[in-house]
Amino acid sequence: MSRDLAGGVYIVTGGSQGFGLAIARELVEHGARVGLLSRSRDRLDAAVADLGAQHAFGVATDVASRAAVDKAFAAVSEHFGRLDGLVNNAGMARPDRIEQLVEAEVQAQVNTNFLGTVFCCQAAIPLLRGGDNPRIVNISSASAWHYDEIVHLSIYAATKAAVERFSRDLREELQADRIGVTCVRPGGAVTDFASEWAREKFEAAMQGWQATGSHLDMGMEAAHVAASVRYALAQPPGVAVDLLEIRPNIPVAKADLYGKQ
Ligand SMILES: NC(=O)c1ccc[n+]([C@@H]2O[C@H](COP(=O)([O-])OP(=O)(O)OC[C@H]3O[C@@H](n4cnc5c(N)ncnc54)[C@H](OP(=O)(O)O)[C@@H]3O)[C@@H](O)[C@H]2O)c1
Repeated sequence: MSRDLAGGVYIVTGGSQGFGLAIARELVEHGARVGLLSRSRDRLDAAVADLGAQHAFGVATDVASRAAVDKAFAAVSEHFGRLDGLVNNAGMARPDRIEQLVEAEVQAQVNTNFLGTVFCCQAAIPLLRGGDNPRIVNISSASAWHYDEIVHLSIYAATKAAVERFSRDLREELQADRIGVTCVRPGGAVTDFASEWAREKFEAAMQGWQATGSHLDMGMEAAHVAASVRYALAQPPGVAVDLLEIRPNIPVAKADLYGKQ
């Protein structure tokens, strides 16, 4: 028995593309309105045009900045007049061998994936408190717990494990306010996620997987992840999906990618 999301307002971080845009589309198709937070103004404008300006509002924001996050949440709740939920989806990865990790890229992953989630939750809580069926969904990654992945994801996977552990306390702390907290842990889906990775580092990570992994966790569509987020947001008051792991069910074997091994 799920709740109708129609009329609700949800902030989706990283809502300009990939999972975030698919989540925003899923919510709009179910009658909700969405505030999109990401850094590139151009990509935000394109997403808002795609979803319709009456349904979507974009605020250019770096989630790693607490001050910018506070301003963006105020702008969205003022624009739509309410806030019913937050989907912490903005994230990035920079695969590399641990010995060679570049300081700025370590910090960017921690700041975006973990601190960005913390700051957005802090900004959302006072706006969600007292709402009809308020919700927070934090996007994790199967790479935090499963090892049939490309390698060299140590920092990225650690930030997602941190998001999951943080979400446990968040859930406990927010029960008194009836704010439901869910971690959605997706496996691999094709998006532009890897488009900024250095090609040689990506190839090294794939070679590492060839040496160790049995199957590549890849093959879902962003829309599948979006439907799982809507499922979590649409739970009735008094119940929350704690953790929802969604992964491809047709694993890509090495033989499929490289011929018989
Ligand atoms: N794709 C997968 O296979 C997969 C699997 C498991 C989990 N995930 C997780 O799912 C989430 C979405 O991934 P995706 O594949 O959709 O990635 P994507 O296509 O690269 O999209 C990432 C989004 O996050 C935004 N973003 C990045 N850094 C940001 C920052 N500092 N502040 C605000 N926005 C920021 C990007 O916009 P700007 O660059 O304009 O800021 C973009 O809108 C991430 O948390 C990722 O870790 C992905």
